[in-house]
Amino acid sequence: MPRRLMAGQRPLKPSILVRSQAGHQFMFLTIIQLIFIILFTRQIIVVLIAWWTGTQSDVPFQSTKKSVLKKLVKYLDINSNQKIYDLGSGSGQVTFFLAKNSPAEIIGVEKNQPLYLISKFKKMFHSQLKLKLINQDLFNINLSNADIIYTYFSPRAYKKALLKFEQELKKNTIFIAWRYPFNSSKFKLVHQIKDRHIMYIYQKQR
Ligand SMILES: C[S@@+](CC[C@H](N)C(=O)[O-])C[C@H]1O[C@@H](n2cnc3c(N)ncnc32)[C@H](O)[C@@H]1O
Repeated sequence: MPRRLMAGQRPLKPSILVRSQAGHQFMFLTIIQLIFIILFTRQIIVVLIAWWTGTQSDVPFQSTKKSVLKKLVKYLDINSNQKIYDLGSGSGQVTFFLAKNSPAEIIGVEKNQPLYLISKFKKMFHSQLKLKLINQDLFNINLSNADIIYTYFSPRAYKKALLKFEQELKKNTIFIAWRYPFNSSKFKLVHQIKDRHIMYIYQKQR
């Protein structure tokens, strides 16, 4: 729509109008390019962290998808007296999601220091959440008071931790394994959630 002119104001020359339109188009393109560069850099950083953490332990860093976490929270009847351990909490995706979407106390355990520090940094903006972050190897943590355990491990890492989970977890503890199943005669598979991969939900039998 043509602009209304004020008294004494002269109309803009067509060349100025074309230049200002071109300026807008240029700014729009620059913003698109900037978004693309940020997303691309983020992806590169994620791949590098996954590769690096994979060289440090049996489990490279990867995040659980939010879509499956939403289904998990719907399925579990979580109450405020429960303690949930996110073992190998990475930069805190699951930890923060559960803390925001359930009334339980959430404990994130991560042995990789840079990832732990990222989650600590995030916590500065969420001080109201009922959540504790620990920079430790899970083998140094006593899990006997856990009601729910969340894991995203490799089959090899599950094998390594099998005995600890079998001996330490109390009866009826819910054990969640995203993507790879956890095979133990002491745990019964009670539910599966299908998403991009499968989420296996077990209950400790004795
Ligand atoms: C696949 S990532 C999962 C991250 C997050 N829980 C999620 O699902 O989005 C696995 C994480 O476990 C951590 N990890 C591997 N072995 C561990 C151990 N023994 N103790 C604590 N953390 C460990 C890795 O550093 C990595 O960050």
